[in-house]
Amino acid sequence: MSIEQLESIAQAMVAPGKGIIAIDESTGTIRKRFEAVGVDNTEENRRAYRELLLTAPGLSDHIAGAILYDETIRQSTRAGKPFTEVMRAAGILPGIKVDMGPQPLAGFPGEVVTEGLDGLRQRLADYTRLGARFAKWRAVIHIGEDTPSSTCIEANNHALARYAALCQEAGLVPIVEPEVLMDGDHDIEVCYEVTEAVLRSLFASLYEHNVMLEGAILKASMVVSGKDCAEQAGVEEVAESTVRCLKATVPALLPGIVFLSGGQSDEQATAHLNAMNQIGPHPWPLSFSYGRAMQQAALQLWARDMRANWVEAQKTVAQRARENGMAALGQWRPAA
Ligand code: 13P
Repeated sequence: MSIEQLESIAQAMVAPGKGIIAIDESTGTIRKRFEAVGVDNTEENRRAYRELLLTAPGLSDHIAGAILYDETIRQSTRAGKPFTEVMRAAGILPGIKVDMGPQPLAGFPGEVVTEGLDGLRQRLADYTRLGARFAKWRAVIHIGEDTPSSTCIEANNHALARYAALCQEAGLVPIVEPEVLMDGDHDIEVCYEVTEAVLRSLFASLYEHNVMLEGAILKASMVVSGKDCAEQAGVEEVAESTVRCLKATVPALLPGIVFLSGGQSDEQATAHLNAMNQIGPHPWPLSFSYGRAMQQAALQLWARDMRANWVEAQKTVAQRARENGMAALGQWRPAA
């Protein structure tokens, strides 16, 4: 695949007023989400829930792509139509999470490095055959007393760069995601400093590994106060700090930046994205790739009564897509 083709997929992923829905929870992570609402973590429940999300009427008005998990990209609707076909028909690009999750980084207590490079070339070829057009790899950075170490940042970014190069070789657009977690009592300035250091190092690694930025997307965490910080920065401060940090670190050539929600409430995630776009224009489209902030309201509804609430839950996820799509344009208005 040529760089032009990768570039046009990347641009489609962040088309104006559109974003990405992350439904790529591993079997362990979806267990946590299901347990919280009293749903059994069976394969059929996972399949049915993902069908609900992917077939929500009107979803594609504001959703350009969906990130799937290995199990999900192989599943079909109850009527037997593969999810990837349903998505193609709706104009939603199939994406795939390809990392194998974070593991403790030896020698660095409390820090993790994401694994999954072994055999990745073959897995990417398989996913391309299954219809994937883009991929995702998430690195996890903890802020603590003495963390993150530069070793942890570099190890994670080295893996992200090797993953990204392999994706482009396979004809997939890599989403590179270094998530700086919100956990902790640090203030927003500390989050800014850590995010800046992580992104500077990430783009140096991508450069060293010959990754073509025109055919890649950054999935970033917002610059926010730690969850347990006594002083919580407001929407404007989060928007300004995040945009400043991105402008200082992310080349203008990148086709787009999408955000994770990382534990923010639905309303916060939308308000922050909207505020960032209101202080634009920026060198890149700023959009969303939310998991929890797209799904949690719909999941709660469905869990209460899987059959009776099916349609309402689909309307709820389509509504979240619409609100975030408006925020990607800086045109969202909070409900009165
Ligand atoms: P959240 O929006 O729930 O943080 O999930 C996004 C995601 O895909 C993290 O990798």
